[in-house]
Amino acid sequence: MADTTGEGAGRTALVTGAAGGLGRSFALGFAARGYRVAVADVNVAGCAETAHLIRDRGGPTPWHGELDVTSEESTRQVAESVAAFGDGRIDVVVNNAAVYGAVTRSPLEEVDPAEWDLVMDVNLKGPWMVVRACSPFLPEGGRVVNLSSATVYSGSENWLHYVASKGGVIALTRVMAKELGRRSITVNAIAPGFTLTEASYGLMDNAEEYGVDRTALRRAGRPDDVVGAALFLAGPDSAYLTGQTLVVDGGRQFV
Ligand SMILES: NC(=O)c1ccc[n+]([C@@H]2O[C@H](COP(=O)([O-])OP(=O)(O)OC[C@H]3O[C@@H](n4cnc5c(N)ncnc54)[C@H](O)[C@@H]3O)[C@@H](O)[C@H]2O)c1
Repeated sequence: MADTTGEGAGRTALVTGAAGGLGRSFALGFAARGYRVAVADVNVAGCAETAHLIRDRGGPTPWHGELDVTSEESTRQVAESVAAFGDGRIDVVVNNAAVYGAVTRSPLEEVDPAEWDLVMDVNLKGPWMVVRACSPFLPEGGRVVNLSSATVYSGSENWLHYVASKGGVIALTRVMAKELGRRSITVNAIAPGFTLTEASYGLMDNAEEYGVDRTALRRAGRPDDVVGAALFLAGPDSAYLTGQTLVVDGGRQFV
């Protein structure tokens, strides 16, 4: 059941890539705290399902729609629609959309340049395009949360383009924090460790066991494990925290 008097009351949060996986968990988590949630994705049917789940759990009626984070036109249209839904404001942007599960793992000599471009377009240019479009509607006290990855710190082999794109997200977060900080908007990143989403299950047979022995908490990460970090970075308790990256990986990397 949604807490309509919670910290999200009267605030609007846009979650990109919310058709499933972590994005859906963020959307449900924000709605449960009383945020008006806007869910956007290239996968329109998945978004509609996320919106349906929010309504089913008694959350405030969400906005849902198609978004291609690589498109100037699409990001502009979505930002305008979500701002109209949010009475002129987009209080929180969660930049979660990415190509992840479908990215080919191969040695650096064999990375397809076309796939490199796609990964950079969606994972690195995408968060910029979204923030650029939402910027006019981000109020004082607004929040941006970008999804990086703990792979940046482990330097996962045979995943050069994906890891590099997520490293870029950390760099982009710092610049955005300085530029938007002048308007009292915070910009932070979350770097999840391996987390059990549909996409992760598709990557290997033994996903539940993957890396668990190297994790301080000795269990696999679940989407809900990452939601709390996003709520913290979106909420009032992180007002003086910006440009940072929170690693949420059960204690696998210490950075
Ligand atoms: N699952 C993990 O282990 C893990 C670990 C570290 C970081 N991450 C990051 O967390 C985020 C979510 O991961 P996930 O496991 O839920 O993956 P996922 O593939 O389920 O989610 C990504 C979503 O982005 C959407 N998307 C792809 N291209 C898009 C575009 N051009 N415009 C709009 N939406 C687009 C997809 O349709 C999908 O719904 C990603 O940024 C991923 O890189 C995941």
